[in-house]
Amino acid sequence: MPSEANAIVKQLQQAIQDRQPRIAVMGLGYVGLPLLASCFKAGYAVLGFDVSQERIQTLQAGQSPVQDVAASQIQAMNQSERAEWTSNPETLATADIILICVPTPLHKSKEPDLSFIVQATETLARTLRPGQLIILESTTYPGTTDEVLLPAFEATGLQLDQHFLLAFSPERIDPGNPTYRVENIPKVVGGISAECGAVASAFYQSLGLSVHTVSSARVAETAKILENTFRSVNIALVNEFAGICRALEIDVWEVIEAAATKPFGFMKFLPGPGIGGHCIPLDPHYLIWKARLHGFEPRFMGLADQINSQMPVWVVQRTTDVLNLARKALNGARIGVLGVAYKANIDDARESPAHAILPLLMQKGAQVSYHDPYIPRFEAGGQVLKSQPCDSDFLAQDLLLILTDHQQLDYARILAEAPLILDTRNALVSRLPEARLSERLHGL
Ligand SMILES: NC(=O)c1ccc[n+]([C@@H]2O[C@H](COP(=O)([O-])OP(=O)(O)OC[C@H]3O[C@@H](n4cnc5c(N)ncnc54)[C@H](O)[C@@H]3O)[C@@H](O)[C@H]2O)c1
Repeated sequence: MPSEANAIVKQLQQAIQDRQPRIAVMGLGYVGLPLLASCFKAGYAVLGFDVSQERIQTLQAGQSPVQDVAASQIQAMNQSERAEWTSNPETLATADIILICVPTPLHKSKEPDLSFIVQATETLARTLRPGQLIILESTTYPGTTDEVLLPAFEATGLQLDQHFLLAFSPERIDPGNPTYRVENIPKVVGGISAECGAVASAFYQSLGLSVHTVSSARVAETAKILENTFRSVNIALVNEFAGICRALEIDVWEVIEAAATKPFGFMKFLPGPGIGGHCIPLDPHYLIWKARLHGFEPRFMGLADQINSQMPVWVVQRTTDVLNLARKALNGARIGVLGVAYKANIDDARESPAHAILPLLMQKGAQVSYHDPYIPRFEAGGQVLKSQPCDSDFLAQDLLLILTDHQQLDYARILAEAPLILDTRNALVSRLPEARLSERLHGL
């Protein structure tokens, strides 16, 4: 006679083969919504759950709150009986597989703020029923799934492997990246038990994804933080190189292009005004915190964070120096900032370096305005600024500061009209090589 553990595994695996389970996604943001769209595309019935009623209303009205999912996709879902949007937590009982995609920010002290995961876990514990598979996708420190989620679920009286399954699978999406999307990014999956890992892996395979199954949720949690720490450390390294090259009067961009011709052993990272987004500046702190609890003091990760966090100060220093070349002071200067999103071609300004740079410029007396085709409003120094048209008046200010190199900007016009430019992204020279000769153009 099959054991109860075998029973839930077999039942869910068979159901996955037949696309029978109803999939709920908790948290319909940059991560959760594209994932839900993939589940729908794979033939599953989907339930989108979010605590924000405004977000649910937006989706019910057929609009998309994130750039990577088209409104037409939402409308197609709305016309189908396979999709439902809700902020009613009771409905979660109707789902068989539940994917948690809630935010994992930091407290001001840079310690992990697990409150969204804890809240989502408490919500789920209230409706947990036999036969459910829960997968945490939010980025977090190793041990979260079995130290925070598992005890809360077991406190309901239901047991892992007998009644419910639990796994971690980090989301690796890169919003705005047209090459790598949910569909073609391999999934790392780690279960609390081997059974949990096997069923969670079968589920992601059913979405057409390539799956790499690891031995535990902790390994999967740590792998995600290694990926993002790798980026943070390498960005810090090139940012430091930018400072060294400035001191030695060498063009750092030319150096990087040259090094990148090596076909092995080198991976190209680019300097910039600082790091941003909901991942790279935050994720390493989750591991730093956990390592400290276990008596290990990480040095590399902290150093990278320090270097990257200092970049906005460096940008303000460079702004002062470049204005100085034109015999102008930062105090009273009219500065037009081009781009406040944290990276090119996206509508996300979370943790963007502009959040540090604009207030610093304002504190020193600069009059700051900005243009960003993706970010209509931006809060800086206690003021809400509105994106200005990128017209001749905007370009004619004392200094144009390029912080984000959105593709759609008219760089030829910018180069022709702006009297003084500080380009922290090499946006102009990379598109218009002749810009290198312009005495009005300066870099990091
Ligand atoms: N944005 C990225 O590029 C990216 C990439 C990979 C991984 N991640 C990780 O994915 C997770 C989610 O990030 P995001 O960028 O999608 O966040 P987001 O802010 O875009 O979306 C999160 C959504 O969760 C909702 N929410 C909050 N608490 C909830 C709850 N208890 N129940 C249901 N919904 C709730 C919010 O209302 C919001 O709509 C984070 O852990 C992040 O680190 C993000």
